[in-house]
Amino acid sequence: MAAFGTVFTPEMIISRYEQNQWSTPAMVSSNSISLHPGAHVLHYASTCFEGLKAFRHADDSIHIFRMDKNVARLQQSSALLALPAFDPVMLSNMIMDIVRQYAADVPSPPGSMYIRPTHIGTEGSIGKAAAPSLNSMLYVLLSPVGDYFAGGAKALRLLLEDDARCASHMGMVKSGGNYASALQPIMKARAAVQADQVLFCPNGDVQETGAANFLLIDGNEIITKALDSSFLHGITRDSILTLARDRGMKVSERELTVDELLERAVRPGAEAALSGTAAVLTAVGTLIHENKEYQVGGGEAGQTTAALRQALNDIQWGKAEDKFGWLTKV
Ligand code: PLP
Ligand code: COI
Repeated sequence: MAAFGTVFTPEMIISRYEQNQWSTPAMVSSNSISLHPGAHVLHYASTCFEGLKAFRHADDSIHIFRMDKNVARLQQSSALLALPAFDPVMLSNMIMDIVRQYAADVPSPPGSMYIRPTHIGTEGSIGKAAAPSLNSMLYVLLSPVGDYFAGGAKALRLLLEDDARCASHMGMVKSGGNYASALQPIMKARAAVQADQVLFCPNGDVQETGAANFLLIDGNEIITKALDSSFLHGITRDSILTLARDRGMKVSERELTVDELLERAVRPGAEAALSGTAAVLTAVGTLIHENKEYQVGGGEAGQTTAALRQALNDIQWGKAEDKFGWLTKV
Protein backbone atom coordinates (compact mmCIF):
# COMPACT_ATOMS: atom_id res chain seq x y z
CA MET A 1 0.00 0.00 0.00
CA ALA A 2 1.12 3.56 -0.69
CA ALA A 3 2.57 5.58 2.20
CA PHE A 4 -0.03 6.91 4.67
CA GLY A 5 -1.80 10.01 3.37
CA THR A 6 -0.30 10.15 -0.13
CA VAL A 7 -3.36 8.97 -2.08
CA PHE A 8 -6.50 11.13 -2.30
CA THR A 9 -9.91 10.67 -3.82
CA PRO A 10 -10.24 12.89 -6.96
CA GLU A 11 -12.70 15.22 -5.26
CA MET A 12 -13.10 16.97 -1.91
CA ILE A 13 -16.00 18.99 -0.52
CA ILE A 14 -15.58 22.68 0.25
CA SER A 15 -17.43 25.64 1.73
CA ARG A 16 -16.05 29.19 1.73
CA TYR A 17 -16.70 31.88 4.32
CA GLU A 18 -16.87 35.25 2.59
CA GLN A 19 -18.82 38.41 3.38
CA ASN A 20 -20.01 36.91 6.65
CA GLN A 21 -21.57 33.79 5.20
CA TRP A 22 -20.76 30.22 4.34
CA SER A 23 -21.27 29.10 0.74
CA THR A 24 -23.28 25.98 -0.06
CA PRO A 25 -20.80 23.07 0.14
CA ALA A 26 -19.66 21.85 -3.27
CA MET A 27 -17.66 18.87 -4.56
CA VAL A 28 -14.56 20.12 -6.37
CA SER A 29 -11.30 18.63 -7.63
CA SER A 30 -8.90 17.78 -4.80
CA ASN A 31 -5.86 18.60 -6.97
CA SER A 32 -5.50 22.25 -6.06
CA ILE A 33 -6.97 25.29 -4.38
CA SER A 34 -6.38 28.88 -5.30
CA LEU A 35 -5.10 31.20 -2.57
CA HIS A 36 -3.91 34.80 -2.46
CA PRO A 37 -0.12 34.74 -1.79
CA GLY A 38 -0.80 37.00 1.18
CA ALA A 39 -3.45 34.65 2.60
CA HIS A 40 -3.58 34.74 6.39
CA VAL A 41 -2.91 30.99 6.66
CA LEU A 42 0.36 31.25 4.71
CA HIS A 43 1.79 33.99 6.94
CA TYR A 44 0.15 33.73 10.33
CA ALA A 45 -0.68 29.99 10.41
CA SER A 46 -4.45 30.26 10.82
CA THR A 47 -4.93 26.59 10.05
CA CYS A 48 -6.48 23.71 11.93
CA PHE A 49 -7.55 20.25 10.88
CA GLU A 50 -9.03 16.97 12.02
CA GLY A 51 -8.31 13.31 11.42
CA LEU A 52 -11.07 10.71 11.63
CA LYS A 53 -11.82 7.48 9.83
CA ALA A 54 -14.59 5.62 7.99
CA PHE A 55 -14.63 1.82 8.16
CA ARG A 56 -16.08 -0.88 5.93
CA HIS A 57 -18.08 -3.60 7.70
CA ALA A 58 -18.50 -7.19 6.50
CA ASP A 59 -21.91 -6.33 4.97
CA ASP A 60 -20.21 -3.50 2.99
CA SER A 61 -21.91 -0.77 5.00
CA ILE A 62 -19.66 2.22 5.80
CA HIS A 63 -19.40 3.74 9.29
CA ILE A 64 -17.64 6.88 10.54
CA PHE A 65 -16.00 6.69 13.98
CA ARG A 66 -16.82 9.41 16.56
CA MET A 67 -17.60 12.08 13.97
CA ASP A 68 -19.36 14.31 16.55
CA LYS A 69 -16.20 14.50 18.67
CA ASN A 70 -13.97 15.42 15.73
CA VAL A 71 -16.41 18.04 14.48
CA ALA A 72 -16.59 19.55 17.98
CA ARG A 73 -12.77 19.60 18.26
CA LEU A 74 -12.45 21.44 14.92
CA GLN A 75 -15.01 23.98 16.16
CA GLN A 76 -12.93 24.47 19.28
CA SER A 77 -9.65 24.72 17.33
CA SER A 78 -11.27 27.24 14.96
CA ALA A 79 -12.46 29.34 17.90
CA LEU A 80 -8.99 29.31 19.52
CA LEU A 81 -7.43 30.43 16.20
CA ALA A 82 -10.11 33.12 15.76
CA LEU A 83 -11.28 31.54 12.49
CA PRO A 84 -14.93 32.04 11.49
CA ALA A 85 -17.39 29.83 13.39
CA PHE A 86 -19.21 27.16 11.39
CA ASP A 87 -22.33 25.12 11.98
CA PRO A 88 -21.33 21.61 13.16
CA VAL A 89 -24.30 20.19 11.25
CA MET A 90 -22.92 21.69 8.03
CA LEU A 91 -19.52 20.04 8.56
CA SER A 92 -21.08 16.70 9.57
CA ASN A 93 -23.17 16.77 6.40
CA MET A 94 -20.10 17.63 4.30
CA ILE A 95 -18.25 14.64 5.78
CA MET A 96 -21.21 12.33 5.22
CA ASP A 97 -21.69 13.57 1.63
CA ILE A 98 -18.07 13.10 0.53
CA VAL A 99 -17.73 9.70 2.23
CA ARG A 100 -20.99 8.56 0.61
CA GLN A 101 -19.73 9.76 -2.77
CA TYR A 102 -16.53 7.70 -2.42
CA ALA A 103 -17.97 4.79 -0.41
CA ALA A 104 -16.65 2.34 -3.01
CA ASP A 105 -13.09 3.52 -2.25
CA VAL A 106 -13.25 2.81 1.50
CA PRO A 107 -10.70 -0.01 2.02
CA SER A 108 -11.61 -3.23 3.82
CA PRO A 109 -9.99 -3.92 7.21
CA PRO A 110 -7.23 -3.45 8.19
CA GLY A 111 -7.42 -0.39 5.91
CA SER A 112 -9.85 2.51 6.29
CA MET A 113 -10.74 5.88 4.77
CA TYR A 114 -8.88 8.68 6.55
CA ILE A 115 -10.96 11.87 6.61
CA ARG A 116 -9.15 15.22 6.88
CA PRO A 117 -11.42 18.24 7.52
CA THR A 118 -9.31 21.40 7.19
CA HIS A 119 -10.09 25.01 8.07
CA ILE A 120 -7.81 27.83 6.87
CA GLY A 121 -7.82 31.65 6.99
CA THR A 122 -7.82 32.96 3.42
CA GLU A 123 -7.99 36.73 3.73
CA GLY A 124 -5.26 38.28 1.59
CA SER A 125 -4.00 40.90 4.01
CA ILE A 126 -0.46 40.70 5.37
CA GLY A 127 -1.20 43.53 7.78
CA LYS A 128 -3.22 41.14 9.90
CA ALA A 129 -0.38 39.75 11.99
CA ALA A 130 -2.35 40.48 15.12
CA ALA A 131 -5.88 40.24 13.76
CA PRO A 132 -8.03 37.32 12.59
CA SER A 133 -8.77 36.39 9.01
CA LEU A 134 -12.23 37.56 7.99
CA ASN A 135 -12.51 34.90 5.28
CA SER A 136 -11.83 31.19 5.38
CA MET A 137 -12.15 27.86 3.59
CA LEU A 138 -13.42 24.66 5.15
CA TYR A 139 -12.84 21.50 3.13
CA VAL A 140 -12.81 17.75 3.64
CA LEU A 141 -10.16 15.57 1.98
CA LEU A 142 -10.34 11.78 1.83
CA SER A 143 -7.38 9.41 1.76
CA PRO A 144 -7.63 5.60 1.73
CA VAL A 145 -5.03 4.35 4.23
CA GLY A 146 -3.39 1.30 5.77
CA ASP A 147 -1.00 1.35 8.73
CA TYR A 148 0.47 4.72 9.80
CA PHE A 149 3.65 3.24 11.24
CA ALA A 150 5.70 1.70 8.47
CA GLY A 151 7.05 -0.92 10.88
CA GLY A 152 3.55 -2.41 11.24
CA ALA A 153 3.23 -4.22 14.55
CA LYS A 154 6.81 -3.52 15.68
CA ALA A 155 7.04 -1.88 19.13
CA LEU A 156 8.17 1.75 18.82
CA ARG A 157 11.29 3.51 20.08
CA LEU A 158 10.58 6.86 21.75
CA LEU A 159 13.09 9.52 22.69
CA LEU A 160 12.08 11.49 25.78
CA GLU A 161 12.64 15.19 25.14
CA ASP A 162 12.70 17.66 28.04
CA ASP A 163 11.12 20.42 25.99
CA ALA A 164 7.51 21.16 25.03
CA ARG A 165 6.04 20.23 21.64
CA CYS A 166 4.45 23.64 21.26
CA ALA A 167 3.26 26.67 23.24
CA SER A 168 1.49 25.46 26.38
CA HIS A 169 -1.82 27.17 25.59
CA MET A 170 -1.91 25.79 22.02
CA GLY A 171 -1.45 22.07 22.61
CA MET A 172 -5.16 21.36 22.57
CA VAL A 173 -5.50 23.02 19.14
CA LYS A 174 -4.97 20.66 16.20
CA SER A 175 -3.10 23.33 14.30
CA GLY A 176 -0.39 23.19 11.66
CA GLY A 177 1.99 25.39 13.66
CA ASN A 178 2.22 22.81 16.44
CA TYR A 179 3.41 20.17 13.97
CA ALA A 180 5.94 22.56 12.43
CA SER A 181 7.41 23.39 15.83
CA ALA A 182 7.88 19.68 16.66
CA LEU A 183 9.71 18.82 13.42
CA GLN A 184 13.30 19.64 14.39
CA PRO A 185 13.26 17.57 17.62
CA ILE A 186 11.72 14.62 15.73
CA MET A 187 14.26 14.79 12.91
CA LYS A 188 17.13 15.01 15.40
CA ALA A 189 15.78 12.05 17.38
CA ARG A 190 15.53 9.95 14.22
CA ALA A 191 19.07 10.76 13.19
CA ALA A 192 20.69 10.47 16.62
CA VAL A 193 19.07 7.37 18.13
CA GLN A 194 16.81 5.99 15.37
CA ALA A 195 13.75 6.92 17.42
CA ASP A 196 10.35 6.51 15.76
CA GLN A 197 8.84 9.41 17.70
CA VAL A 198 9.64 11.97 20.37
CA LEU A 199 7.77 11.89 23.68
CA PHE A 200 7.60 15.52 24.79
CA CYS A 201 8.11 15.89 28.56
CA PRO A 202 8.49 19.60 29.43
CA ASN A 203 9.86 19.99 32.97
CA GLY A 204 9.68 16.23 33.49
CA ASP A 205 5.92 16.09 32.76
CA VAL A 206 5.07 13.25 30.33
CA GLN A 207 2.84 14.87 27.71
CA GLU A 208 2.39 13.33 24.22
CA THR A 209 4.28 12.57 21.02
CA GLY A 210 4.21 14.51 17.75
CA ALA A 211 1.17 12.64 16.43
CA ALA A 212 -0.35 10.58 19.25
CA ASN A 213 -1.11 10.45 22.99
CA PHE A 214 0.95 8.36 25.42
CA LEU A 215 -0.40 5.71 27.81
CA LEU A 216 1.43 3.69 30.47
CA ILE A 217 -0.16 0.37 31.37
CA ASP A 218 0.95 -1.24 34.62
CA GLY A 219 -0.94 -4.41 35.47
CA ASN A 220 -4.61 -3.47 35.79
CA GLU A 221 -3.92 0.28 35.78
CA ILE A 222 -3.69 2.63 32.83
CA ILE A 223 -2.03 5.99 33.48
CA THR A 224 -2.07 9.05 31.25
CA LYS A 225 -1.82 12.81 31.63
CA ALA A 226 -5.03 14.54 32.77
CA LEU A 227 -6.54 16.88 30.19
CA ASP A 228 -5.26 20.46 30.13
CA SER A 229 -4.61 23.02 27.40
CA SER A 230 -1.02 21.87 26.77
CA PHE A 231 -1.69 18.75 24.67
CA LEU A 232 -4.21 17.31 22.22
CA HIS A 233 -7.32 15.75 23.74
CA GLY A 234 -7.16 12.60 21.67
CA ILE A 235 -10.42 10.95 20.74
CA THR A 236 -8.67 7.58 20.54
CA ARG A 237 -7.30 8.26 24.05
CA ASP A 238 -10.86 8.81 25.27
CA SER A 239 -12.06 5.66 23.46
CA ILE A 240 -9.27 3.49 24.88
CA LEU A 241 -9.85 4.79 28.41
CA THR A 242 -13.57 4.06 28.03
CA LEU A 243 -12.82 0.51 26.84
CA ALA A 244 -10.32 0.04 29.68
CA ARG A 245 -12.87 1.14 32.32
CA ASP A 246 -15.42 -1.17 30.70
CA ARG A 247 -13.00 -4.09 31.19
CA GLY A 248 -12.66 -3.24 34.88
CA MET A 249 -9.26 -1.57 34.58
CA LYS A 250 -8.32 1.34 36.85
CA VAL A 251 -7.92 4.52 34.78
CA SER A 252 -5.67 7.19 36.31
CA GLU A 253 -5.73 10.54 34.52
CA ARG A 254 -3.06 12.51 36.36
CA GLU A 255 0.43 13.93 36.14
CA LEU A 256 3.04 11.32 35.21
CA THR A 257 6.66 12.34 35.70
CA VAL A 258 9.59 11.06 33.66
CA ASP A 259 11.07 9.59 36.86
CA GLU A 260 7.92 7.60 37.65
CA LEU A 261 7.55 6.51 34.03
CA LEU A 262 11.10 5.19 33.75
CA GLU A 263 10.81 3.45 37.10
CA ARG A 264 7.49 1.74 36.32
CA ALA A 265 7.99 1.04 32.62
CA VAL A 266 10.79 -1.45 33.19
CA ARG A 267 8.83 -3.52 35.73
CA PRO A 268 7.74 -6.96 34.56
CA GLY A 269 4.32 -6.78 32.92
CA ALA A 270 4.46 -3.03 32.25
CA GLU A 271 3.38 -1.79 28.82
CA ALA A 272 3.35 1.53 27.02
CA ALA A 273 1.41 2.58 23.95
CA LEU A 274 0.57 5.49 21.66
CA SER A 275 -3.05 6.26 20.82
CA GLY A 276 -4.29 8.20 17.82
CA THR A 277 -6.56 8.00 14.82
CA ALA A 278 -3.60 7.20 12.58
CA ALA A 279 -1.61 5.28 15.23
CA VAL A 280 -4.71 3.40 16.56
CA LEU A 281 -2.99 1.85 19.61
CA THR A 282 0.66 1.08 18.90
CA ALA A 283 2.95 -0.54 21.44
CA VAL A 284 6.06 1.24 22.67
CA GLY A 285 9.03 -1.09 23.28
CA THR A 286 11.86 1.29 24.14
CA LEU A 287 12.15 4.60 25.98
CA ILE A 288 15.37 6.55 25.51
CA HIS A 289 16.38 9.19 28.06
CA GLU A 290 19.76 10.86 28.64
CA ASN A 291 21.59 8.29 26.48
CA LYS A 292 20.09 5.33 28.32
CA GLU A 293 17.64 2.84 26.84
CA TYR A 294 14.79 1.40 28.91
CA GLN A 295 13.01 -1.69 27.59
CA VAL A 296 9.26 -1.69 28.24
CA GLY A 297 7.81 -5.19 28.61
CA GLY A 298 11.04 -6.69 27.30
CA GLY A 299 10.81 -4.53 24.16
CA GLU A 300 7.81 -6.42 22.78
CA ALA A 301 4.19 -5.39 22.26
CA GLY A 302 2.17 -6.11 25.41
CA GLN A 303 -0.96 -8.22 25.77
CA THR A 304 -3.19 -5.52 27.23
CA THR A 305 -2.19 -3.14 24.45
CA ALA A 306 -3.08 -5.79 21.88
CA ALA A 307 -6.39 -6.58 23.61
CA LEU A 308 -7.43 -2.91 23.83
CA ARG A 309 -6.46 -2.30 20.19
CA GLN A 310 -8.50 -5.35 19.20
CA ALA A 311 -11.51 -4.17 21.25
CA LEU A 312 -11.35 -0.78 19.50
CA ASN A 313 -10.94 -2.33 16.04
CA ASP A 314 -13.80 -4.77 16.70
CA ILE A 315 -16.20 -1.87 17.25
CA GLN A 316 -14.80 0.07 14.29
CA TRP A 317 -15.07 -2.96 11.98
CA GLY A 318 -18.54 -3.96 13.19
CA LYS A 319 -17.35 -7.17 14.83
CA ALA A 320 -18.46 -6.09 18.31
CA GLU A 321 -21.57 -4.24 19.44
CA ASP A 322 -21.25 -0.44 19.17
CA LYS A 323 -22.31 -0.12 22.79
CA PHE A 324 -21.09 3.44 23.27
CA GLY A 325 -22.79 4.72 20.10
CA TRP A 326 -19.52 5.69 18.40
CA LEU A 327 -20.41 4.85 14.79
CA THR A 328 -22.41 6.90 12.29
CA LYS A 329 -23.66 4.88 9.33
CA VAL A 330 -23.15 6.60 5.99
N1 PLP B 1 -1.72 14.16 19.76
C1 PLP B 1 -1.33 14.65 18.58
C2 PLP B 1 -0.27 15.69 18.55
C3 PLP B 1 -1.94 14.20 17.38
O1 PLP B 1 -1.56 14.67 16.19
C4 PLP B 1 -2.94 13.21 17.48
C5 PLP B 1 -3.57 12.71 16.25
O2 PLP B 1 -4.59 13.08 15.88
C6 PLP B 1 -3.31 12.74 18.75
C7 PLP B 1 -2.67 13.23 19.87
C8 PLP B 1 -4.39 11.71 18.90
O3 PLP B 1 -5.67 12.28 18.67
P1 PLP B 1 -6.86 11.40 18.12
O4 PLP B 1 -6.92 10.19 18.94
O5 PLP B 1 -8.06 12.27 18.28
O6 PLP B 1 -6.57 11.10 16.69
C1 COI C 1 -4.15 11.61 13.29
O1 COI C 1 -3.96 10.60 13.95
O2 COI C 1 -5.24 11.89 12.79
C2 COI C 1 -3.09 12.57 13.08
O3 COI C 1 -3.36 13.71 12.93
C3 COI C 1 -1.73 12.07 13.07
C4 COI C 1 -0.92 12.47 11.87
C5 COI C 1 -1.32 11.81 10.60
C6 COI C 1 -0.69 13.93 11.77
